[in-house]
This record gives sequence, C-alpha cells and structure tokens, in this order.
Amino acid sequence: MKPLNEYNQRILLQKDEIDAAVRSMGQRILEDYADEPLTLIGCLKGSFIFMADLVRAIHRPLHIDFIEVSSYGNDLSSSGNVRVIKDFKHPVQDSHVLIVEDIVDTGLTFDFLFEHIWLKKPRSLEIAALLVRNSVDLEERSVKYHGFTIGDEYVVGYGLDAAGLYRNLNHVAVFEK
Ligand code: PRP
Repeated sequence: MKPLNEYNQRILLQKDEIDAAVRSMGQRILEDYADEPLTLIGCLKGSFIFMADLVRAIHRPLHIDFIEVSSYGNDLSSSGNVRVIKDFKHPVQDSHVLIVEDIVDTGLTFDFLFEHIWLKKPRSLEIAALLVRNSVDLEERSVKYHGFTIGDEYVVGYGLDAAGLYRNLNHVAVFEK
C-alpha cells in the first residue's frame, strides 16, 4: 500500500478550516435546538470523525446513535438501492433528530435516511453534512447544516475513503491515482 503522498494529491480542506466549520456548526445547532431533546445519528462509516468532532462542539446533553447503510448503485446512473447494515436503536419519538453525514453526493443516501428515520416519528428531522456536492439541488434536498460545497473531485480523508483507505487523514484531499 502506497502512502498518500505517492499519489497525486491536493489538499482541499486543511484541518484548521474543518475545525472552524465544525465549531461554527456546533454553535448553530446549540442555539437552534435550545434545550429541546436532541439525538444525532451518524451514518457509518464515513461520518465517524466528523460526528466525533461535531458532538464535542455542541455543548449540551444529547443522544448519540449510528446507522450503517450500504448503497448499490450502478455505474451509469445515481439510481441504486440503499440498505441498512446496522440500524440505530435509540427511540426518537420524543426527540429532534439530526442525521450526520460526511458527504451528500448524489443524494441517494440522504433520501433513504430521511424516509427510514421519519418512520420512527421524530419531532423533527434534519441533516448536518460536512460536504455537499455542488450538483445537489438544495431546494429539493434541504441540508440544514453544511460545512463546505465541493465540485466533482474524488475526495478522501477526515472519514472519507478510497477503497477503504485514507479515512484517518486529518485533512480532506483530492485523490487522483
Ligand atoms: C458515502 C457517504 C454517504 C454516501 C453519500 O458513503 O458516507 O453516506 O456515500 O453518497 P450519496 O449521496 O451518493 O448517496 P459510502 O457508501 O461511501 O460508505 P462509507 O460511509 O462506509 O464510506
């Protein structure tokens, strides 16, 4: 396995930019939900680092849970199937829910998660994503909190992977083989 610096990589988001965006998002969430019950559900695996930093930037009690999904798209279109590998367990009927995602790419996972979690009747359901592709129609898919809008670059780091690797980078880099 090559270290990342042997690939042609360009840092897209430095750790300090990410930290500032996460701190600001945490502050907004703190203000928006006041002292209402709040549950954050991180979508594995990509969200695990963002989730860990975001929850520590929201200085109030909250519940934390995770869901793991897998999507089977085909190469020609974004229409694929998403299925649950590991479901979240926390009862959310009396709580506001914030889905935590590393990236909204085609929006397929977004659609699935909204439908799936909405069935459990939370008080409200919104999403916090570190990255949103600029191809995502934010009128159609409302991402309440997002850190950065990016183009169609293949990005890795801060939870995002290339074939399972590079999730452990502190920054987000454009990955080109
Ligand atoms: C990534 C990411 C989102 C999803 C977004 O997960 O974490 O969950 O893709 O893509 P979409 O908007 O096109 O649906 P991935 O399937 O790569 O799995 P991972 O989280 O385990 O890396």
